[in-house]
Formats: sequence, C-alpha cells, structure tokens
Amino acid sequence: MAGRALCAAAMEQEPIKSLSALFADEPDRLSKLSFAVAGIYFDWSKTHLGQVLISGFLERSRKAGFVAARDALFAGEIVNPSEQRAATHVAERGSAAPDDVDLATARRQRMRALVDAIEGGAFGDVTGILHIGIGGSVLGPALVVDALGRRSPAFTVRFLSNIDGAAFDDAVKPLDPATTLVVVASKSFTTLETILNLEAAREWLRGAGVDDPDGRLIAATANPQAAVEQGIDDSRILQFAETVGGRFSLWSSVGLTIALALGWGGFEALLEGAAEMDRHFRFAEPHANVPLIAAFADRLYVEQLGCQSRAVFAYDERLRLLPMCLQQIEMESNGKSVTKDGRPVAHPTAPVVWGGVGTDAQHAVFQLLHQGTVLVPVEFVAVVHGDDKQDGEHHRLLLLNAFAQGAALMAGRESEDPHRAYPGNRPSATVLLDRLDARSLGALIAFYEHRTFANAVLVGINAFDQFGVELGKDIARHLSEGAEQDSLDPSTRALIERTGV
Ligand code: F6P
Repeated sequence: MAGRALCAAAMEQEPIKSLSALFADEPDRLSKLSFAVAGIYFDWSKTHLGQVLISGFLERSRKAGFVAARDALFAGEIVNPSEQRAATHVAERGSAAPDDVDLATARRQRMRALVDAIEGGAFGDVTGILHIGIGGSVLGPALVVDALGRRSPAFTVRFLSNIDGAAFDDAVKPLDPATTLVVVASKSFTTLETILNLEAAREWLRGAGVDDPDGRLIAATANPQAAVEQGIDDSRILQFAETVGGRFSLWSSVGLTIALALGWGGFEALLEGAAEMDRHFRFAEPHANVPLIAAFADRLYVEQLGCQSRAVFAYDERLRLLPMCLQQIEMESNGKSVTKDGRPVAHPTAPVVWGGVGTDAQHAVFQLLHQGTVLVPVEFVAVVHGDDKQDGEHHRLLLLNAFAQGAALMAGRESEDPHRAYPGNRPSATVLLDRLDARSLGALIAFYEHRTFANAVLVGINAFDQFGVELGKDIARHLSEGAEQDSLDPSTRALIERTGV
C-alpha cells in the first residue's frame, strides 16, 4: 500500500484526523501544541494529536497513575521493581529527596576537588583525556563534549568504547601517553569491553615509558571495590549511587570528562539545565507537560498507527551524536515486552529510534520518509543561533531546510504523475533550542529521559532495568572461557570453527 492510501487506511479510525484537517478545525492548535521550556521551543502541532485524542490520553495517564509514578521517581521511591531500586539520576541535579541530593552533592564535591587538582597541576602537565566506557558510560559524555567542547578545548578528549582493537588504535592516535589521563567509567566495573580497554590503556602507558601508569587512571563507578580490584587507587575512584542507571549516568561522576573538557562551570550549567526540565516535568499539569505530551504522540504512532520506528534528525552538526544517545535512552529503557509485574504488555512498547544529521540525511534517507510505504514520525532538532565561523548563510539555510522538510512531509504535493506525487499528512515534531550551551543541552537530554519514563508509565513497563542485554553477554563469556559448544546451534558452531576464535 503506498502513499496517501497508507496514511488514510491507518487513520480511518476516528478520531484520527489528517494534519490539514486538524489545523483547519483547531485554530488555536499551534499555541496549544507548542511550548517554551528551559530555553527550548517544542512544536508538536504537526503530529496527529487532536483535542479528542489528547483528552483520551490524559484520561489514560490518570488511569496509569502518571502523577503518582512521577512523584515516586522524584521522591526516590522504588520505580525499578525488578531490581528493587529507585532511579536517582534526578538527585544528581538536585531534583529529589533531600538525602539522595545530599549524597550526590557530597560525591560531586569530591569530583570537583579532583578536577581542581588536575587543573592545578597535581597530575603534572595534562594535555589529553582518554575516556573509556561503553553504552551509558560513554554516550552521554561523548555527546556533550562533541557538542560543546569544540572551541579551544582544554584537553584533547578521546572516547573509547568498542572492544575492537582498531577502536583502541584510533582513540589513542592523537594522544601523548606522557600527558594523558585515563578516565574509566563503568557502573559495574565488570564490563568486558571496558576492562579489556583499561588493560590495553595501562599497557599503552607502560609501553611508552610512563613512570606510574596506575597513577594516571581515574575511575567513575558504582562499584568501587571492583575498581580497586582492577588496580585503581581508592583516592582516584569517584563513586556514584547504584540507583543511577548507566544510561542516566552522565550527571554523576561519569561526567568527569565533561567537567574536564568544559570546566566545572560548564558541568554545573548542564546539571542546572536538566534541573529546569526536571521542575517542568515534576510540576507542570499533565495537559501542559511537554515530555508527557510527546509521550502521547509516541503512543499514538506506535500503538494506533503501527509505526515501528521514529527518526530523529539533528539539524546541527554539534548534535550529531544525539540520535545514538537517544537510541540507548529509549530502546534500552522501553524495549520490553512485559509489564512491571511480569505480564505480557497490552500495547507495543518502544519503536526503533534512528536518525542522523540534516542536511546529509535529506540526500540519503528522506526519499522513504516522503514517499515510502512505511509511516515514520520524524523529529527535527535544531538551534536558532549557530556557532560556526562561516557567514550566516550556512545556518540560515540549515534551519530553512529543516523547516521545509517538516512542511513538505505534512503538506505533500499532488501530481498527475504518481512518481512525482507526495502523499503528505506525514507527521513531524520540532525541537528548537535558542542556543546550544551546557544549560540547554542539559535540559534537552532531561526532556528525552522524562519522555521515555512517561512512555513507560503509560504502557505499564519498568524503564529502569535492561535484562535483555545479558543473554548475549553470558554466551560470549562462556565461549571465551572455553565452554563446551555442544549446546550451540550448528550455524554458530560453524562460524566459530571457520574463524578459529
Ligand atoms: O550492556 C548494557 C549496559 O549494562 C548498559 O546499560 C550500560 O550503560 C553499559 O552496559 C555499560 O555498563 P557499565 O557502565 O557497567 O560498564
């Protein structure tokens, strides 16, 4: 089924109206579905959320206990029942129960002392930081440093995650071992990739004749004992709470690399921006609560219109890592098929999140978005004021392109020639930051975190565990320890045999 027919069939059920009908029928639609929070403008008016649907979702959020769940998150109550844990990333930005905030603050003071010591020369001349970590222990810091650390960075910062030795070789290429500090970020401090890369980094330092390689290692972890067992001195271990999930950990000591790259003020501004979004999510009424409204649109597309993916395009080179970061936040949190109490879910949960940067993506994947047979809700993330050294024409055209794509997806264009017809009625949302700075980026990331949580509450799942990642790790571990292969399927056995691993 192609083009307009696709959308029409999906949307036949009342009360889903076409986007043009929604704009015609609801004159105040733009003002009702656009919001300004923490220096960010959110426009959800080009989605199929109409007043009838929103009323239905508000009722559903009441039934799902959204307000109580949100209060429980900020009160440090157990919101991760399968692991019997709270989720206290919000405490790292001061938005939680006093005890949790006090603990996070005390730990942050230690982190600050270490940053001051490094900047003050206690580690000698430092020109480079090698940040080792994987998943949530790298994606957030890498996004923030890539986005904000471009102008005269204090250090050359490299991120290393993959177990592939080629990634190691690339990461250390621009670094001088004599003046590099290694930040090892791992909540568990048992992750295979991170431990192997830590050992390789130690060897790299030793091989280059660095006197005391262990003295160049700093750990950020919730498991200090494991870091000590890996040879890291207690004085250089920055602990964070077990209740801070890996994909929410950039606000904790995992953000050490951010604090070094942007300076302490930059790190604090990031936390303040996130705290501003926390306050909005925590106190705004459901009908004006941006993460919740965005979750309503997510539910509409995933559940009622069968969309299996959502695309996010950063129309700003500085945010090129945003889609990858969001993939983990959303897919690891909500890629579940059972409810909090273990029953099969009644609705599809998380879509596949994918994306890229504009305008590059326009010349690669947008064909399918405009004329393909699958409906993909699109999100444009852009920044009003650019920061490049070129004349304003680059940035002006960048923004105009983002807006033109949203307009084209919605309006479409008729043609006698089916090849040249655009069905239109395809949804998009726009997130517009006034400026890209630590504060607005903190608020932006927190927005996505809360939207993910709001989705989980509406579906009744636990957003804070991730048991789905364990089975593959278990099998790899057993195989690497030389376990019998008899229980493996023939295809996998043959692959192992062919490669001799
Ligand atoms: O395998 C998934 C995962 O556990 C993520 O949740 C986490 O962010 C990543 O691995 C890294 O884990 P750790 O911080 O414990 O090294």
